[in-house]
Amino acid sequence: MRVRIDPDRCQGHGLCAALHPDVFDLDANGFSVVQHDALDQRGALDPSLLTEVDEAIGTCPEDAIAVVEGSARPTVEGEAR
Ligand code: F3S
Repeated sequence: MRVRIDPDRCQGHGLCAALHPDVFDLDANGFSVVQHDALDQRGALDPSLLTEVDEAIGTCPEDAIAVVEGSARPTVEGEAR
C-alpha cells in the first residue's frame, strides 16, 4: 500500500508530522512528506505503521492524506513542491 499526500489539499498544518514524526515530516516549504524510514525497499508503506497513518488521516483538517492499495513506489506529491 502507498501513502498519498494530495498537494492541492495539504496546507501545511503539520498535525501529521507532529502526531507521528516517525511517519511524516515537513518539507522545506512546510508541506507534508512521508519519512523514507516508513517505507520498505520498494517504497511501500511499512504495514506496521498503518495505525499511525490512519490516525494522521483522521487528524488532517484538509483530508490530504490517503492510503492507496498497491505496492508500487508511493506517490508523495508533497516532495515535488
Ligand atoms: Fe498537510 Fe494535513 Fe499534514 S494539511 S501538513 S497533510 S496535517
